[in-house]
Amino acid sequence: MTEIKVMKGADIKFAKMLSEIEQWGHLTSDFERLSRLDPNGCFVAWDGSARAGIVTTVTYKDYAFLGNLIVKQEKRSRGIGLMLMQHSIAYLDKRGVETIELDGVFAAVSLYRRLGFRDKYLSLRFVRKPGERRKEAAGAKVCSESSQSLTLFDREKIGFDRGVFLKELIKDHTDTTYCLTDGKLLAYAVTRGRANGAVHIGPLVAENRISCDRLLSTITPKHNQRILTIGVPEINRAAIEIVLRHCFEYCPPSLRMYRGSRIDYERHVYGIVSSDVG
Ligand SMILES: CC(C)(COP(=O)(O)OP(=O)(O)OC[C@H]1O[C@@H](n2cnc3c(N)ncnc32)[C@H](O)[C@@H]1OP(=O)(O)O)[C@@H](O)C(=O)NCCC(=O)NCCS
Repeated sequence: MTEIKVMKGADIKFAKMLSEIEQWGHLTSDFERLSRLDPNGCFVAWDGSARAGIVTTVTYKDYAFLGNLIVKQEKRSRGIGLMLMQHSIAYLDKRGVETIELDGVFAAVSLYRRLGFRDKYLSLRFVRKPGERRKEAAGAKVCSESSQSLTLFDREKIGFDRGVFLKELIKDHTDTTYCLTDGKLLAYAVTRGRANGAVHIGPLVAENRISCDRLLSTITPKHNQRILTIGVPEINRAAIEIVLRHCFEYCPPSLRMYRGSRIDYERHVYGIVSSDVG
C-alpha cells in the first residue's frame, strides 16, 4: 500500500539520492532548507516499508512553488507520482494558496495538465562552459547590504514577499551574494555551488537590463574556469539577450506552468532561483 508522509530529517538522504540520480545538482542543504521553512510542506511516498518518491513545496503566502517530484525508477508507472502531486496540491489548497507554479519536464506535462496546471512560458536554461575570456568591466561587489534590504528590493520588484525563503538562502551564501548599488540598490544575485560542480546564478533580480548586465559582468569573470548555469523566464527577452552576450548557451528548457490565478511577476526576474523553488 502506498502512503504519503511528511518528509522528516531521516528522509533527506533519500531525497538527495533521488535528485543525484536525476543529476539535478541539489545539495543536502537545499532539502534541509525547504523542510526547515515548512516542516509540513515536503512529502515522501512510502510503498509499504520502503521509500518510493518525493515532492517538495515552498509557500510564499498566496503563492507556492512545487518541485522535486521524483519517483524511484523501479516504482514508476504505478500512480505514485500522481498521488504525490494530489497530496501536495491538497496541502497547498488547504493553506489557502491561490497560485501554484512548477517547472515541468515535457514528459510530465500531460500529468500536470490533468491536475489543472496551465502552460505559462518556457523556463529557459543556460550554461556557460569554462574557458579563457577577457575580464569584463565590473562595477558590482560582494553584497554588503543586509538580507533585509535585498528581500525588500525583491518584494518591490516581483510584487510578492518571498523574504522568508530568501533570507535563509542569502544567509547560507553571504560570501557569494552580489549586488549593484548606485546610491540605491539596483540589482542583486545569489551564486552557489551545486552538487555537480557547477555554479548556479539565481535569483538575479534587477531594476533594468543595464543593471543586470553590469552585475553579470562582475560575476562571470570570477568563474571562467567553472561551469555556470542560469535559468531565465522566456518572457524576459532582455535577459535572454544578456546571457547570450555573456557566452551562455541554450540547454533543454522546461515548461513553467501555473494552477489557480495567473500572476505575472517576471519583469525584473533575470534569473530564477532554481527549477524546484521558482
Ligand atoms: C514524473 C514521475 C514523477 C512520474 O511518476 P510515476 O509514479 O511514474 O507517475 P504515475 O504512475 O503517477 O503516472 C502519472 C503520469 O506520469 C507521466 N509519466 C509517466 N512516465 C513518465 C516519465 N518517464 N517521465 C515523466 N513523466 C512520466 C505520465 O503522464 C503518466 O500518466 P499516464 O500513465 O497516463 O501516461 C517519474 O516518471 C519520475 O520520477 N521521473 C523522473 C523525474 C522527473 O522528471 N520528474 C518530473 C520533474 S518536472
